[in-house]
Amino acid sequence: MTGRPVKPTESSPEIRRCEANERAQVVSLLAACGLPEAGLSDHWETTWVAASPNGDGTVVGSVALEVHGDAALLRSLATRPEARSKGVGGSLVDVAVSHATSLGLQSVSLLTTTAEPFFARRGFASVPRRDLPPSLTASAEFRGACPASATAMLRRLR
Ligand SMILES: CC(C)(COP(=O)(O)OP(=O)(O)OC[C@H]1O[C@@H](n2cnc3c(N)ncnc32)[C@H](O)[C@@H]1OP(=O)(O)O)[C@@H](O)C(=O)NCCC(=O)NCCS
Repeated sequence: MTGRPVKPTESSPEIRRCEANERAQVVSLLAACGLPEAGLSDHWETTWVAASPNGDGTVVGSVALEVHGDAALLRSLATRPEARSKGVGGSLVDVAVSHATSLGLQSVSLLTTTAEPFFARRGFASVPRRDLPPSLTASAEFRGACPASATAMLRRLR
């Protein structure tokens, strides 16, 4: 995949870049899922949404990528509860990772308190936080937005 939008089928959402008028829905979704919003406003250009297939404009999922040097931080992955376990979260991760790959980045990392097994099934390995690319310390998630107890995970791209 190369980060291109994923077209919807009759029952699956379309995954595409977040439009400006969808940002408030993403922020609400993150709050409902207990995920931090801090720092996201610097990365709307690399935020994707899963849009409801019924065309009512509902955002059912989100993911964002922060690019810092030759490394990326995947963040703000969330699926509305009623849309879960249908592959939306996995598709959002695929789009973000393929975008990072298309940029020639070395790796995609993340911090999670809740979803380590979900990401482990998608090629991410748990690592000590000190093993993450140093450029990621520029992220708000590393400056307190994410709890110190969060698990650090890394997927090498090349
Ligand atoms: C994690 C999340 C995005 C997955 O979204 P989703 O659309 O349900 O994802 P998918 O449908 O692609 O995959 C679902 C599968 O992952 C599993 N899964 C979901 N959350 C999981 C978790 N926290 N730990 C382990 N497995 C998890 C589901 O059981 C399901 O397994 P199955 O396919 O065997 O039934 C969603 O559960 C969510 O929004 N959680 C709250 C926010 C969150 O924790 N985000 C991650 C922050 S780093």
